[in-house]
Amino acid sequence: MSLMRRALLAASTNAWLRDHVTKWGFVRRSVTRFMPGERIEDALAAAKEQQKLGINTILTRLGENLTRGDEFEEVTQHYLEVIDRVAEAGLDAHISIKPTQLGLDLDRALCERNIDRLVERAEQKGNFVWIDMEGSPYVDPTLELYKRSRAKSDRVGIALQAYLYRTPQDVESLIPLGPAIRVVKGAYLEAPNIAYPKKSDVDDAFYKLSTRLLSPDAQKTGTLLHIATHDIPLADRLLAYIKQNDVPNAAYEFAMLYGIQRNQQLRLAREGIGLRVLISYGEYWFPWYMRRLAERPANVWFVIRTLWS
Ligand code: FDA
Repeated sequence: MSLMRRALLAASTNAWLRDHVTKWGFVRRSVTRFMPGERIEDALAAAKEQQKLGINTILTRLGENLTRGDEFEEVTQHYLEVIDRVAEAGLDAHISIKPTQLGLDLDRALCERNIDRLVERAEQKGNFVWIDMEGSPYVDPTLELYKRSRAKSDRVGIALQAYLYRTPQDVESLIPLGPAIRVVKGAYLEAPNIAYPKKSDVDDAFYKLSTRLLSPDAQKTGTLLHIATHDIPLADRLLAYIKQNDVPNAAYEFAMLYGIQRNQQLRLAREGIGLRVLISYGEYWFPWYMRRLAERPANVWFVIRTLWS
């Protein structure tokens, strides 16, 4: 892992930087490349624009590691409202939540109830709830939350991180449930004894996990795969596998982040390949933004250039 990437990931958890850097105008300007605005209205307007291009969306309000009961309730109420507003607007826009936004750090039972409320509303309104995967200490509780929800509804999915050595076993434990799994490379700073440090190993793991989830016996259980990457060679390798093996369209979708690899997004849409773009919004964007910079340190120069724009 490069020094720059390590420094940016360390910065993502620094409270002083979060409180100060988010007030600097040039940083705020640079963030707009990756998020259409801080308000849900900005995200809904962007989702509408994407839908015109044949691209569906996933909405997520930034924020993590909340600590107070009133904050969890506020986030849950917010997402309930988002599900209603998506239905009213006739959008095909899922929601994506972080368990630590809904109470996981403080009260597991409360977090379960909040997820239940969202999944029930998603059932009523024809929506779908994705559970993000956070840092490695959260993997076990997040898997338990998912398995519990999946036993009640098929309108819930989970993100799994290809960089973790444990993920192939987690995939095997989920396949019998007919899961919806978003495979991602993994965005947190993890130790080499639990996660592959080398990009080539992570890419390889991503490919193997994805092909396992597209395999005929995973398909028999109703498994859905979200291939969440901006890595074009990797996406092309998986598209070749899909073609060679006649994988049905209903078995997978690609998922990418708003504003990243736009040409690839338009290419997939043009070719009629299922794609969802994840749109982030909200005021608490600092740690999330640092992780996006860490994914491509060249973005740091982009931020610096906006000093003069
Ligand atoms: P990689 O980082 O290898 O990038 C491939 C290429 O894409 C780069 O060379 C660059 O050209 C371009 N690129 C990638 N990131 C860029 C950026 N920020 N700016 C500009 N160009 C960029 N992680 C997690 O731990 N838990 C989660 O729940 C989720 N959820 C999630 C949902 C969705 C829909 C996506 C797309 C991603 C996530 N992630 C995530 C993040 C994920 O783990 C990973 O950090 C990023 O997707 C970057 O990895 P790539 O697969 O894009 O490849």
